[in-house]
Amino acid sequence: MAGIGVVVAILVTLAAVLIPWLPTSASREMARIELVYWVATIISIGIFTLVVSVIVYSVLTFRAAPEDESDGPSIHGNTGLEVVWTLLAVTLVVAIGVLSAVVLSQNGNAGTNPLAVNVYAQQFAWRFEYPQQNKLKSGELVLPLGRKVEFHMTAADVIHSFWIPEMGQKQDLVPGIQTKIIVTPTRTGTFTLVCTELCGLGHATMRAPVRVLSSADFAAWVKEKQSGGGGGGTGAALFASAGCGSCHTFTPAGTTGKIGPSLDDLAAAAKAAGQDVTAFTHESIVDPGKVIASGYQNGVMPTNYGQSYSAQEIDALVKYLTGAGQ
Ligand code: CUA
Repeated sequence: MAGIGVVVAILVTLAAVLIPWLPTSASREMARIELVYWVATIISIGIFTLVVSVIVYSVLTFRAAPEDESDGPSIHGNTGLEVVWTLLAVTLVVAIGVLSAVVLSQNGNAGTNPLAVNVYAQQFAWRFEYPQQNKLKSGELVLPLGRKVEFHMTAADVIHSFWIPEMGQKQDLVPGIQTKIIVTPTRTGTFTLVCTELCGLGHATMRAPVRVLSSADFAAWVKEKQSGGGGGGTGAALFASAGCGSCHTFTPAGTTGKIGPSLDDLAAAAKAAGQDVTAFTHESIVDPGKVIASGYQNGVMPTNYGQSYSAQEIDALVKYLTGAGQ
């Protein structure tokens, strides 16, 4: 019996220690969250072990002999024991509470000079804007190493949720209000921002790449973005930053989304609808409910692209999609 117990204990310990239960931290906030997590887990393991040991010991030691049907002795409790376990439990719960409050307050502190990033979420894409970098726009989240980043977030349609697993912090984006979250990257590399609020048919595809660069590389990226690409003016850049590819297959962009119809043969779709391809494509972007491709539902594609983007941007996108921009 004791042998089995020891074997089980060893296997459980190996599973606990060898499996990487949490992603390797890539932010100061995540490191603090991990601390709370492990403190609470270790306390729970200690209490669980103590309780189970007492139960097993009691069951083995105090069980009734066969055929013994008499009542057990009447026991009126043990004041000393009750005081100890009450105080112990209160102390541990208060300790976890205080530690959590300290971590929550540190993780919510933006410091004196955070980098501001505006985050816009809509079904089913992320867009980023850097107000201190001349309102630089990007479909990819690029962050400098070691600097606090304060995200100002809002949603255009329904509730979404911002989460980069390696960076710990998680926050909802809600239409009509602005929510905030702070992340301080501690590791360069490539990560993924995922939406963790079920927001519709394309929820699972609502992801955005995240790159953490050294501060010099970040400055170089900002410079290049500002001088080059024309601030996302080209149709290809807009297609990427608006997140069209998470729902639509479009071979020139290398996307394979299946939520909405393929955009590979718009000429045929326009012909079927009895329209000119340019007018048809434009209408399908700004008023997607007008013509619904067979096999697809109305109301899935957002109807606000006409408001979110300028007329020139939409025109560039239409040219890109119809091949007229090549
Ligand atoms: Cu946005 Cu799920």
